[in-house]
Amino acid sequence: MDKTTATIVCTQSSQVLATRLAEKLTLSLTPVIRRRFPDGEIYIQIEFSPLSTHTCEKVVLIGSTLTSDDIVELLLLIDACVEKEIILVLPYMGYARQDQRFNPGESISARAIAQTLGARVSQVITVNIHKETVLSDFRVPARNVSLATEIATHIKTVISADAKPLLLAPDKGALGLIQRVAMQCNYEYDYLSKKRISGEEVIIESKAIPVAGRELVIIDDIISTGGTLATSATMLIAQGASLIHAVCVHGVFIQGAYARLKQCGIGHLCSSDTIESAGSGYSAAPAIAQAIREIL
Ligand code: R5P
Repeated sequence: MDKTTATIVCTQSSQVLATRLAEKLTLSLTPVIRRRFPDGEIYIQIEFSPLSTHTCEKVVLIGSTLTSDDIVELLLLIDACVEKEIILVLPYMGYARQDQRFNPGESISARAIAQTLGARVSQVITVNIHKETVLSDFRVPARNVSLATEIATHIKTVISADAKPLLLAPDKGALGLIQRVAMQCNYEYDYLSKKRISGEEVIIESKAIPVAGRELVIIDDIISTGGTLATSATMLIAQGASLIHAVCVHGVFIQGAYARLKQCGIGHLCSSDTIESAGSGYSAAPAIAQAIREIL
């Protein structure tokens, strides 16, 4: 990799992950000035050095889009780098869960965001995107990386192998992820059946899984309200599970979800740094760095 021709630029929301990525790839992290106009609009200026303005041909632009402001900041950064080849990394892609029209008149938000962000970049990398079918909506080469290896390594670090934990996906959608994690830990795994009632409420169907007296690790792509995890944990505790841990990729943790989940007895609870918080217990940097090495 020619380090003089590529640099990393990040949004405010992905500064820690971008720093880790820069270290892994031994690439520079170009600073960005951010301000707000009096009316709240965002101003950005990328501080390319006089030399890199001319010599740096590629920009790895990294930014999770948890809020609408994150999306605007990313669009402004894309515009500021437009003379260069942009590899866009979306560690967490917001709006990705509505990937089809359920009722007439609804927008397919995943497609709308993917088409907008993909319009002026040359490649896209996502991390455990909710559904890989969304990748084609970027309309440029796009690939999704999985944090299964990082999750497996993390579980082996924080949970004693003597406990022989059972890995559980809260729904069939997380089965692919948990299979890959289980393969690397050599632990048993299973999945639950979930029915979503509303944004906050889910029903977990009872299933005969021998959990009595066992330590469990629930693994999901996203923890948002924590409803899925809390409902699963309540059922599993009633079935006799001795201890429940939870690891996810994207820790959205809205409405105080992290504190609520800890208070209702979840043991180890963490996410990656695709959304940066004190609950980020492992990093997506190794997996993203590997994907970038294969591109640059
Ligand atoms: C849904 O299909 C996802 O995989 C997660 O299970 C879901 O987003 C979790 O949301 P919440 O924490 O609000 O239940």
